[in-house]
Amino acid sequence: MTKAICPGSFDPVTFGHLDIIQRAATTFDEVIVAIMPNPRKQALFTVEERLAMLRESTRDIRGVTVATADGLLVDFARARGALVIVKGLRPIQDFEYEWQMGMVNKELADDIETFFLMSRKEYSYLSSSIVREIAAFGRDVESLVPAGVAARMREKYSQRS
Ligand code: PNS
Repeated sequence: MTKAICPGSFDPVTFGHLDIIQRAATTFDEVIVAIMPNPRKQALFTVEERLAMLRESTRDIRGVTVATADGLLVDFARARGALVIVKGLRPIQDFEYEWQMGMVNKELADDIETFFLMSRKEYSYLSSSIVREIAAFGRDVESLVPAGVAARMREKYSQRS
């Protein structure tokens, strides 16, 4: 029984994230999607909002649960009995950061392996920050995120303006 963690800030979850989660779920027996704070980013959505969006978006994917966590990723993985971390890798932009995180996590926990799934070409340009930027200008993001997430983005930015 191989358990994997799909960590991220998911602010908000995009079709790119969901593709990686879906593919991880076909490869591993159990996938825990872990919403974690990224100290390098200022979040738009609260952790509770992100949890609700991810639960709704992954409810039909077998073997997937969603959790929130703080602290070190490797500690959370170990506490949940997961020895695999799955991350999506987009061309060029992700490599340096993901390589560093992969090395750090290996240094902290040698028995935990990081698996990278290459993003599909149709999602290779997609990121939560791009989605936030488009939505902030009042444009619809339904082609990039699930409908429920797009609705929450409209709500969030209408509250702000
Ligand atoms: O979706 P993101 O923002 O690229 O996700 C980054 C995340 C949350 C996976 C990363 O910041 C993380 O692992 N945070 C937990 C703290 C940690 O373990 N950092 C690595 C060692 S310093």
